[in-house]
This record gives sequence, structure tokens and C-alpha cells, in this order.
Amino acid sequence: MSDDVVMQVMEGVAWVTLNRPDSMNAINNGVREAIPRLLDQAQADDAVRVVVVQGAGPKAFCTGADIREFNPVASLALDRQRRVHANWINAFERVRKPVIASIHGYCLGGGLEIALCCDIRIAADNAVFGFPETGLGFLPGAGGTQRASRVLGLGLALDLVLSGERIDASQAQRIGLISRLCEASALREQTAALAAKMAAKPPLAMQLAKEAVRQGHDMNLANGIRLEADLQTHLLNTQDRLEAAAAFREKRPPKFTGQ
Ligand code: COA
Repeated sequence: MSDDVVMQVMEGVAWVTLNRPDSMNAINNGVREAIPRLLDQAQADDAVRVVVVQGAGPKAFCTGADIREFNPVASLALDRQRRVHANWINAFERVRKPVIASIHGYCLGGGLEIALCCDIRIAADNAVFGFPETGLGFLPGAGGTQRASRVLGLGLALDLVLSGERIDASQAQRIGLISRLCEASALREQTAALAAKMAAKPPLAMQLAKEAVRQGHDMNLANGIRLEADLQTHLLNTQDRLEAAAAFREKRPPKFTGQ
């Protein structure tokens, strides 16, 4: 097992760090193997309430696929292998807990695709975003063409994908690519504060609220409303909901168990 991605769990937060700083955290097969393994581990661990994805080193969140590994697709077997590898990023769909992307520096190609898989994107003011793929003769193939339009709308997604132009953090905030922006020196602290706030909430409510928003987004309104009602019914029967109300009445901090 490589250490191309490392995970540390602290106080309810799993910090998943893309850990190839000498290559600006470019995505190699080690990263493709580690991401699903670590995300599945974080999902299975009851001590983890929130996941944060970040990049190691001062320069980048992630600059996309490792261009030094690019080879001609020589056979059907290789092509099949490429498709299997392309599935690594779908591991994000299996994480029911909130996932935060904490972005500094370059966030390009597959790096942007990782960020788009996350529920909340917080970025440092030195962050730079873009899809360089078409200039390299291919397309953002780890879900980027699909998730960009869902996050940004058709027009902005087409602009980013087809122009390949980079945008800075304030432009990214303006178009809704990130929802939070801070000074680079404050990124870790701001990310930790947000993660801690979310980790302290009733975990089941967090997971089902995420499910309602995410799954509902791919449904028509009537089905989305039905989904929301079903998930709410489930939450109405949880101990944590009663505990939240009791703690409010008794003017004390709540103690949530996830039940
Ligand atoms: N794949 C492989 N190596 C990468 C990489 C990538 N996607 N992105 C950066 N690196 C490596 C560089 O090769 C270099 O390694 P070296 O020091 O061994 O030569 C190191 O990271 C630093 O990159 P460098 O290009 O020297 O830094 P820079 O500040 O001049 O430029 C970028 C930074 C991000 C603009 C530039 O590295 C770049 O364009 N990278 C490719 C981005 C891209 O097209 N990604 C999409 C792939 S689908």
C-alpha cells in the first residue's frame, strides 16, 4: 500500500490528504487505489462524522492526472483497465457523511473533478481552477463533464470545459464553484472550524439531509419532495432528535449518539 494518499482521524473528522507534493499531488494509480479504500474506511468508521479532502505541500490541491504516466492505449485490456480506474472517483458517491474539499493553489483537471465530488468547497485566495484536458486531447473523464454542469449549470460548465481557461478563487466564488473563500493562511483553521461544527451535529440528520439534497437534485420536484418526506419521517423517530429538543429545553449542550 502506498502513502500517495493518507488519512488521519481527529475528533470526528477524517482528514484525507493527497500526498504527492513533489508532483503537485497529481493522480497516479496509487491515488486511484487509495481514494476508494480510505473513503470506504471513513464511511464505515462510526468515529468519523465528517470527511475533509486536502492537498499536501504549499502549491496545489491537485493538478489532475499524472501526465508522466500517459501512454497510448495499446489494447482492449488496457482500455478496460482504464475504465476500471476511472471508477475510483465514484467512491465519493458511497460516502453518506458530509465531505469538504479544502482547496489551496492549483486545482486542475482531476483535482477539480475531486473537488466537484465534495459537498462543500472551501478555498484559499490563492486557489486556481480549470479543466486543461481538451488542450491535452481528451476530456475531463472522471465525471467532470457531468458534475460540473450539475454544480454550475450548463453554460458555465461548457465554458470551463471548452475554453480550458483557469479562473481564480474570487471568480470561482462568483460562479458558485466554491461556497467559501478565505486567506491562504487561514484555510486549515477555517476548514477545521467548519468540519468541527458539522461533526458536532446529529450524524443521522447530517447524512439524510445530504441524501435529500443530492438525490433530490437528480429527481423531478414531486419525487424529490416525496424523498424528503420519507427521510424526515425516519429522522422524527430518532433519539438524537428528542435529545436535541431536551437539551434546548434544559439549556445544556446535547449529547448525540447517532441513534
Ligand atoms: N502530472 C505530472 N506531474 C505534474 C503535474 C501533473 N498533472 N502537475 C505538476 N507536475 C509536476 C511537474 O512535472 C513538476 O515536476 P518536476 O519538478 O519533477 O519537473 C512539479 O510538479 C512542479 O510543476 P511545474 O510545472 O514545474 O510548476 P509550475 O509552477 O511551473 O506550473 C502547473 C504548475 C500546475 C501550471 C503545471 O505544472 C501544469 O500545467 N501541470 C499540468 C496540469 C494539467 O494539465 N493537468 C491535467 C492533467 S489531465
